[in-house]
Amino acid sequence: TVYPDMLAASKVVAGRIAGIIKQKTQRGEKAVLGLATGATPIAVYKELVRLHQQEGLSFKNVTTFNLDEYYPMSATAVQSYKVFMNKHLFDHVDIAPENINIPDGELAQEDVAAFCLDYEKKISGYGGLDLQILGIGRTGHIGFNEPGSAPNSGTRLVSLDELTRSDAAHDFGGKANVPSKAITMGIGTIFKAREIILMAWNAKKAEIVRKAVEGDASADIPATYLQHSDNVEFILDEDAASAL
Ligand code: GLP
Repeated sequence: TVYPDMLAASKVVAGRIAGIIKQKTQRGEKAVLGLATGATPIAVYKELVRLHQQEGLSFKNVTTFNLDEYYPMSATAVQSYKVFMNKHLFDHVDIAPENINIPDGELAQEDVAAFCLDYEKKISGYGGLDLQILGIGRTGHIGFNEPGSAPNSGTRLVSLDELTRSDAAHDFGGKANVPSKAITMGIGTIFKAREIILMAWNAKKAEIVRKAVEGDASADIPATYLQHSDNVEFILDEDAASAL
């Protein structure tokens, strides 16, 4: 679905999220949301904060699972996805800290595999994700599932692609400071979500969006795996859709 601009599209996505939260809350159930970081979802989070502050949308019945985190990464570093999520969403809404789940960049290497298994179990234990929101990296990654990721992959430690590290360089004051690894939900984890929304804004994403939507499905561009799901919607602004 193509919207004239990023703000209009972000409001639609925030409205969908709010709808799920309200519906689940009415039923006395928890809404289980898969969240993303990066520049793409910032306006969605801003609108959710507005809905909380001005329209009484409550996050008391919300559990969240973030897609990924750099590894290693201090939880207090400005580049950490934990700090990002607090800054853009969690610090401004009434979500309970125990309902927030983000891959832990501070784990000792020997504890990562068990953590990843546990992350999967925890998502399943909550009945699975009601909605997973995604951005897309210029390598075609979703989460940090870089080219070569298997369609049935689960949460795991991965190596970042050189292009991904270059794109992150300005956040880290140079590419040399960008971690070489990350913990990410897998393609298989994302696919289990009952609904998936991939968002992309501006012309820089037009080429990778075209490949993701119109290219052959292959591990070379992990976002193409989404072609195999009936529950996925791409929400784009006109610039990101311009090569379709
Ligand atoms: C990052 C994240 C992804 C995100 C992507 C695009 O590396 N791990 O989850 O979708 O890159 O980032 P942006 O939204 O800043 O373009």
